[in-house]
Order: sequence, then C-alpha cells, then structure tokens
Amino acid sequence: MVKRRIKLQLRFIILLLLSTSLFLTYICMKIAFPPEIDRELLLRQIELGLASNNDSTLCKPPKLPLNSPEIMKFIKNVPPILCGAAGTDWVKCKGSICSIQEEAKVLQGNIECQFTDIIRIDDYENSEGKTTTSDDTYQLIDTDVVKVSCKSKNQKWSSILTTVRKNDTLWKESSWEKLPDEALKLNVLMFGIDSVSRNLFQRKLPQTYHYISKKLKGVILEGYNIVGDGTPQALIPILTGKTELELPDTRKRFSDSHYVNEYPLIWNEFKNAGYVTGYLEDMPVYGVFTYRLNGFKEMPTDHYMRPYYLAEDPEHRRWPKFCTGNTPRHRIMTNFIKDFFHVYRAKPKFMFGFHGELSHDDYNLIGAADKDYRDFLVDLYESGVFNNTVVIILADHGHRFAAIRNTLQGKQEERLPFFSVILPPWFQKKYPHFHKALKSNVDRLTTPFDVHATLKSILNPAVNQDERRDARSLSLFSEIPVDRTCSKAFIEPHWCACLTWNPLENDAPIVPQLAKTLIGTLNNYINSYRNLCDTWRLKEVNWASKLLPNEKMIQFKQNADRDGFLADLSADTHIETEMYQINLELEPDGALFEASITHNLHENSFQLKISDISRINMYGKQASCIEERYPHLRKYCHCKN
Ligand SMILES: *[C@@H]1O[C@H](CO)[C@@H](O)[C@H](O)[C@H]1NC(C)=O
Ligand SMILES: *[C@@H]1O[C@H](CO)[C@@H](O)[C@H](O)[C@H]1NC(C)=O
Ligand SMILES: *[C@@H]1O[C@H](CO)[C@@H](O)[C@H](O)[C@H]1NC(C)=O
Repeated sequence: MVKRRIKLQLRFIILLLLSTSLFLTYICMKIAFPPEIDRELLLRQIELGLASNNDSTLCKPPKLPLNSPEIMKFIKNVPPILCGAAGTDWVKCKGSICSIQEEAKVLQGNIECQFTDIIRIDDYENSEGKTTTSDDTYQLIDTDVVKVSCKSKNQKWSSILTTVRKNDTLWKESSWEKLPDEALKLNVLMFGIDSVSRNLFQRKLPQTYHYISKKLKGVILEGYNIVGDGTPQALIPILTGKTELELPDTRKRFSDSHYVNEYPLIWNEFKNAGYVTGYLEDMPVYGVFTYRLNGFKEMPTDHYMRPYYLAEDPEHRRWPKFCTGNTPRHRIMTNFIKDFFHVYRAKPKFMFGFHGELSHDDYNLIGAADKDYRDFLVDLYESGVFNNTVVIILADHGHRFAAIRNTLQGKQEERLPFFSVILPPWFQKKYPHFHKALKSNVDRLTTPFDVHATLKSILNPAVNQDERRDARSLSLFSEIPVDRTCSKAFIEPHWCACLTWNPLENDAPIVPQLAKTLIGTLNNYINSYRNLCDTWRLKEVNWASKLLPNEKMIQFKQNADRDGFLADLSADTHIETEMYQINLELEPDGALFEASITHNLHENSFQLKISDISRINMYGKQASCIEERYPHLRKYCHCKN
C-alpha cells in the first residue's frame, strides 16, 4: 500500500516536472520569438512617427576623436594572414583559363588534373557538370566555378577555384552604344566591407584610407548615417531606394513570401542600359539575401560569386586560417573584381562586392587586409579603371558588439559607416556642378537612399532634378540641404547620429565653469607674454548651449524582433563626456570669443584646446605689439597701452 502511494506520488512529481518544463519551454519560445508583427501596420507607424517628429532644425554630424580612450581599449594589432603553410597552389585561374602552374610542375614532375564544372541550381544548391582531364590548361565555358583534383607521382592536390570567364553572349549584348546620350557613361564599382565605421576604417585601414583620400582624391562623407540595423537594411535601400517593409515580403520563415528577384534592384536598370553586372558576397551561411530572406531564384546579376562560396565554404578546414590554398581569402574577391574589369574591359560594367569574413565578428582583424586593399586599388588605378569608373568604397554600419554599443561614441560610430566616392580626374572639368555638390555634401546628413538616387543619376542625371529638396532620396551629385533632419531623411530617432544644440539658461550652474575654462585657457596661453598682453576678464556671458545626441539613440540597446524592425530602448549607456559651446564678451574692449568645451563627467574636468577657441570680432590694432614677433598670438592678446 505504502509502496503504491510512493509510486503514485513519484508519478505525480514526474508529471508535474514535465509539465513545468513544457510550460517553461513555451515561455522561453514566446520570449525568443515574439509574435509576428503586421508589416503594413508597422510601416505606417514608422511613417507616422517620422512625420510627427519635431527634430531640431540643425543636424550636426558628431566629430568623434579617433583615439578616444573608451574605444581604443577595443583596438589591438593583429598578425598578418599567412597562407604559406598551404604550399604552392598547383592550379590557378585567370580570365577564362585555369592552368597548372609551372612552379608546381617543377616541384612535382608531371601533374594531371580533373576539372569538374560547378553549376548553380539556386542560392542553396549547386550541381556538378562535366569533368575534363588535362595536364596543362582548362578553359571555363559554362560556369565561373570549377572543382580541381590533381595528382602527381607522389602527391595529390585539390581545391575549388573561381574566375570571371568571358560569356560571349554577354559580350555581344553589352555596349556603351546602348546607353542614352545623357548618361554619364561610367562604369560603377562598389566595394563594401562589413561593420566598419568611418573612424574604424581610419584606425584599421590607414594605408587604404590614405590612398583613397590623398592619391585618388576620394570624397569621404562624414554625415553618412544608417537607416536601420544590419546589412540588408543598408544594402536594400542602396539597391532599391526602399526599405524592406516597403517591398514584397521575402522572409524565409513565411511560406507565401517571394524571392528577392521581385525587388526593383538597381543592377537590373544598368543591365537594361547595356551594362554587364556582378554581385559578390562571401560568407554564404550569413548571406545578406539568404540568411533571413529567401535569396534569388535566378541569378541576380550576370556574374555572381555565391555558387563559388557555397561550394568552397565547407573546405575551409583544409587550409590555414583565412586562406584558400595559399591565397588569403579576402583576396579571392578582389581578384575576381580585377578579373571582371579585365575580361569586360571595353564594356560598361556594374559591380557590387561586399566582404564580411574578416570584420563581421571581429573589431581588429580587418587590419590584416589593409595592405591588400590598398594594393587592390593601386592595381585598378594602374590598369586605368579609375579613368572611366565611379568607385564607391563603403561599409554597411559600424560595430555592433554590446560592449561597444554601451559607450556613447561606440553607438555614434555604429551609425556612421565609412562611405567614399572616387570620380575620374576629368569628371570635375566636365561636370563641375556635380563635383561641387558632392564636395559640399561631405558634412551634410546623407543616407543609403541617397546612394540609390546617385546610382540612378549615373544612368540619367536629369532624373533627380525636379525632386523636392526634402525628398527622402537625393542624388549626391546635387546639394543636400543643410537643414535636412533625420526625420526628413527617413531615419528613425534611435538610428540618428545627429547632434543638436540645446540652449542653456545663462544662470545654469555649469555656465560659470565653462566661462572660467575659456578665460583660464586664454590667460594661460598668453602667460609668458603678460608684460605685453592684458589679462582677460569676464564682461558677459552671451549664450551657452549643450550639444546633445539623440535621446532615443542613447537608449537603444538592441533589436526587439527577429527582423530588426523594432528597437529595444532600455540601454543604460555609459556617458563619459558632454559637449558645450559658449560665447563670451571679455574685458578689455569687449572682445568676443566662442569655444567648444568638453566636460569629462568621470573626472569632472573641462577640456579645451586653444585651437577650439575662435575670436569672432575684429581685433584690429589691439594686437599690434606682438603681431610681428608672435603672429600666432594675434587673436588672443590685447596689448597693454
Ligand atoms: C511639433 O511642433 C508642432 C508645431 O510647433 C506642435 O504643434 C506639436 O505639438 C509638436 N509635436 C511634438 C510631438 O512635439
Ligand atoms: C551568359 O550570360 C547570359 C546573360 O546573363 C546568360 O543567360 C547565359 O546563361 C550565360 N551563358 C553561360 C554559358 O553562362
Ligand atoms: C581618361 O579618360 C579621358 C576621357 O575619356 C581621356 O581623354 C583620357 O585620355 C583618359 N586618360 C587615360 C590615362 O586613359
């Protein structure tokens, strides 16, 4: 009897445990997968929110120091990527030809290889085509991808290789003659790197940055702001001028959703105008259009690297880290781009390459590619590509690791990805107003939507001209209004990196401290010349204001849904510094000074460099006693009688 009761109780307990765990699993699933949101409703909410948002009239891109300590603690040097341990590559491909390397023959004696075509079925599957045996070369005809298995007397070697094989149909179909007269008649090369802010680009890719800005005279946008979270949210607006919510639903987890081919992708317009097109993206597992979305049914562009990366990805274990054979993997994409520009040299070309492997999960690794990226641009330059191509080097967003997102500067850098435009040297002469407008847009608020308008204007510059100046997509070849706000540019508040000036009351407690800092810095600067210059004293505070980042941006923590449409605004962001601006009238003679002052909250200290101080009224003869001998003091010295 007792035994039976224990048994019953045991059963009851087990049942209870089971149901509790089931219930807990259910709750966890509920939390992990919140209910699906209606796309149209969500879009309307976003539009309404933006329309009713009164963001201030001035958007100022923050000036973020490169060496700020809160970021520098994440920055390390990385060793170069060394692939020597893979030995010599027995076969290499260039243009349409794969050839067994002389170097390998010297080492191995006679080599025989089987070349098997890899043929795309869709974005998730390839098949094997015909196999050809050769001891010399193999010409690719049906595909850009080939599986190679070789043997010599004593050894074997195999790999998956890719190249741009010349497609004769394409060659015949594409032509500059097809383009309308008004088109700018330029090739387009866009090359993007995952998760690289403008500041990180300068920190980790300094040689490439220098080459772009100095040698190629690239225009680097400082107010280029993201419009959503993640790579699709950056590339979709560039390629379509729309957000994901405004396009047909392509999400994989819904059975009635579409392929991404449904999107009105800009490369189709280039294709129709006579261009050969290409789209390249590594990391097939995390594909921009295949991870969360359905991917492409038909190839999106004439040349497309996905079948290669899909076939090659499972082989990574065989090679040294970040290598395929003895080639660092990031060079496989840049080599493909070089091949593309070589094979279709005389034809109009549109190419978009996007590389993620080095920078997607690591803040520092991308530094290992700096020299290679610079050399890539040098090679293109030397082969004349820059003379007839608009080259856009860009990133999707900055880094998104929680530790960096917890800092204010990290958040700001996340929202300001690298973006540069390089135009042929003759462009400025032929289209002076386009060039002038582009330069004036350096510190304006710009977005991926504008890149779409710019690409359109390469095919037809007239197309954007009657666009309203507060439109969402404005060509970068037209002047973006100074007073453009995030809501006008369709940037939700939590993505907006703009700063706004908030006026302070003159009797706010911080104002005397700011005034003291400014006057102290001035007097300190002229300290050694006190025999010549008067000591500055406060007459009046004209105004002071605080430079504030967007409140919603500070609160942003992470996505609140699986698609990145919603934001969780519960972050406790650590703020180390605040920025102020102050305008003072000083004695003697009512001198007017203005300065930007940084308040370090942690140390409660104020920082101000003499170069941050402007003298804003005329000083005329007031500095006559020092102007010959110490011209650098002119703005800061009031001569004693
Ligand atoms: C926006 O500004 C308008 C006019 O200045 C005002 O009527 C409205 O209440 C403001 N809306 C918000 C959300 O502050
Ligand atoms: C050549 O390109 C055209 C247009 O993209 C395509 O339809 C055709 O299949 C390609 N030919 C080969 C052999 O890949
Ligand atoms: C560059 O292009 C311009 C205009 O098409 C042409 O006149 C010039 O000769 C080219 N320069 C080089 C170095 O190819």
